[in-house]
Amino acid sequence: MNTPINFAHRGASAYCPENTMAAFARAVELGATGIETDIQRTKDGKLVCIHDDSLLRTAGLNRLVNDTDYEELSHLDAGSWFDPSFSGERVPTLDQLLQLAAQSELILNLELKNGVVLYPGMEAEVIAAVREAGLANRVVLSSFNHYSLALCKQLAPDIRTGILYMEGLFRPWEYAATLKADALHAYHYAVLPEWVHDAAEAGIVYHPFTVNEDREMVRLIEAGVAGIITDYPDRLNALLAERG
Ligand code: G3P
Ligand code: MG
Repeated sequence: MNTPINFAHRGASAYCPENTMAAFARAVELGATGIETDIQRTKDGKLVCIHDDSLLRTAGLNRLVNDTDYEELSHLDAGSWFDPSFSGERVPTLDQLLQLAAQSELILNLELKNGVVLYPGMEAEVIAAVREAGLANRVVLSSFNHYSLALCKQLAPDIRTGILYMEGLFRPWEYAATLKADALHAYHYAVLPEWVHDAAEAGIVYHPFTVNEDREMVRLIEAGVAGIITDYPDRLNALLAERG
């Protein structure tokens, strides 16, 4: 069995402000082999790494990313809400993260946040940026918007896609096949070992989220998942090291 990918959720978000270059760099230091981040788009079309549609919670401006030009967004403090020592952190661009990955072996899980603000054209733009960075074989595109994932697959059959969902879907690997997806990004309670087995028979892997407790990590490793998305890449790294 291959070692599961250790995806740091929004970077090492237990230790650093989520979705900042500090969080991504710390994730690597803590043993992450992958990084999950959330992609939104500014008013003038820059792809950026931020979870919420609004800038309020993590960057202090009560406005949508979609309504803000990159120049203004680039000056916002994306670190102080977490701890004043991170006040220099900014909202990273997708290109900044792609550069970090290009200099390493990291696998990127780029979650398109196009469920509320739909960001028409975002799929092609993300794919172009990934190709430009030469990372098509090290990216998994995911989204709760499965129409968007179907479009990604049409545009780029060679780039992996992962279906995000929360519930105990019935035989989700059969559904995944209808949109030619490669992975199931399931809420971790919606993952049982027999489902991992049946999905594997259909050529589909599981990358459950967001798994922060050791016991649950062990359960999922033993179930045979191909990756785990966690705020604590150090905990997962230690468990994987113990198991050789
Ligand atoms: O991709 C896994 C996870 O990030 C999905 O939920 O809300 O944390 O982006 P959320
Ligand atoms: Mg996410």
